[in-house]
Amino acid sequence: MTKYVIQGGKPLHGEVEISGAKNAAVAILPAALLVDGVCRIENVPNISDVTMILDIMEELGAKIRRVNRTTVDVDCSKVYKQKVPHDLARQIRASYYLIGALLGRFGRAEVPPPGGCDLGVRPIDQHLKGFCAMGAEIQVENGFVYAAAENGRLHGAQVYLDVVSVGATMNILLAASLAKGLTVIENAAKEPHIVDLANFLNSMGADIMGAGTDVIKVRGVERLKGGSYSIIPDQIEAGTYMAAVAAAGGEVRINNIIPKHMDCITAKLVEMGVQVEEDGDSLTVRRTGKLNRANVKTMPYPGFPTDMQPQIAAVLCLAEGTSILNEGIWDNRYRFADEFRRMGAKIQVDGKIAVIEGVNQLTGAPVRACDLRAGAAMIVAGLAAHGTTEVDQVYYIERGYEDIVEKLSKLGADIQCKVIPDKEWRNNVV
Ligand code: EPU
Repeated sequence: MTKYVIQGGKPLHGEVEISGAKNAAVAILPAALLVDGVCRIENVPNISDVTMILDIMEELGAKIRRVNRTTVDVDCSKVYKQKVPHDLARQIRASYYLIGALLGRFGRAEVPPPGGCDLGVRPIDQHLKGFCAMGAEIQVENGFVYAAAENGRLHGAQVYLDVVSVGATMNILLAASLAKGLTVIENAAKEPHIVDLANFLNSMGADIMGAGTDVIKVRGVERLKGGSYSIIPDQIEAGTYMAAVAAAGGEVRINNIIPKHMDCITAKLVEMGVQVEEDGDSLTVRRTGKLNRANVKTMPYPGFPTDMQPQIAAVLCLAEGTSILNEGIWDNRYRFADEFRRMGAKIQVDGKIAVIEGVNQLTGAPVRACDLRAGAAMIVAGLAAHGTTEVDQVYYIERGYEDIVEKLSKLGADIQCKVIPDKEWRNNVV
């Protein structure tokens, strides 16, 4: 077990490079299952969720070759298995994309329901509804989702999503790319990673129009062929560094971003008194004065992203006045509140609403990363806090942030990754 030890109170200065987007990579890699030939995928983030997806694909028979740190060649032409092992699939949320990809390629899939962070109830009924509309028969039994297309191939269909779901939109895109005929996804999600998945599939020969709007049309093709593709930068990783500068103060240039994707986060930070300057594919973030209070409601893109809510909450803990957070996506995304309180934050939670009364100073404390973004928020709070913060359960953070300790250290943060001896770790578990 490892933990991060942070001596807070040091402003951040310098430049940081943003890695490829986790939530794009975990869909684009399984999408290679649909492709007949080698896909060279660049700007792949080096994070444990990606390693897990690649392990599952290898288990299915894919040939994976790491070309360098951020580039992989994926050849799925020899894939023959359609059953995903339970122990691997349960460790990540994105294993649900294997249902759409295997169903699209082979007309059948056996995949355990996905794992991932505990953010409350996380159904996949809209994914399954889409597959059913496309002619799949679905059964959930013995801990597996069994999906099989009539006559071995899905057909196009009209699918209206009852909720705006990133996962369902992407999964139906995957399944529809090789289906017979036209699929129309209505009330589709519009996140940048949806556009990225559609661009990847189109560059391999798919016929997808409208990604990034709420109606996506997919005309199924007979075959996808290999090629090269580079994944977009991670909006949430960039937003997390922006939040870190807002909390700890200083001036940081954040490189390799798409400024348009950052607008929803930039606008809120500017409202809070943070200076943000755009320059090509970089943003410079500066915070010298006090932070203003703000209200934040999370919504599907282009609204404020739920995956930035805990990190912005950490910043609001230090803002002057009372801020209100309204979580619009997940039922249980305030589990970090107890941990923040250990650091002196004043935060009250009632269902989907959190009320934060800003304090002048947070104080370092031992805290636990209760999920990926909560863990990132502990780091943001720890960087600003007076004294030592020890963040436990950092494997959650490593699911989605490449080299976070090294990147923050380069910005002047005092953060170290420490191995906890087994005995000490057991004694700390309550
Ligand atoms: N929902 C349903 N039925 C479904 C699917 C979703 O009711 O079939 C509901 C969910 O319960 C939730 C809402 O719809 O209330 C949105 O869920 P969505 O399907 O969009 O979420 P997801 O695909 O499971 C992805 C990201 C999450 C991110 C959400 C929202 C991946 C692997 N995960 O999850 O990322 O919070 O979209 O943007 O892409 C993270 O990176 O920390 C993370 C949790």
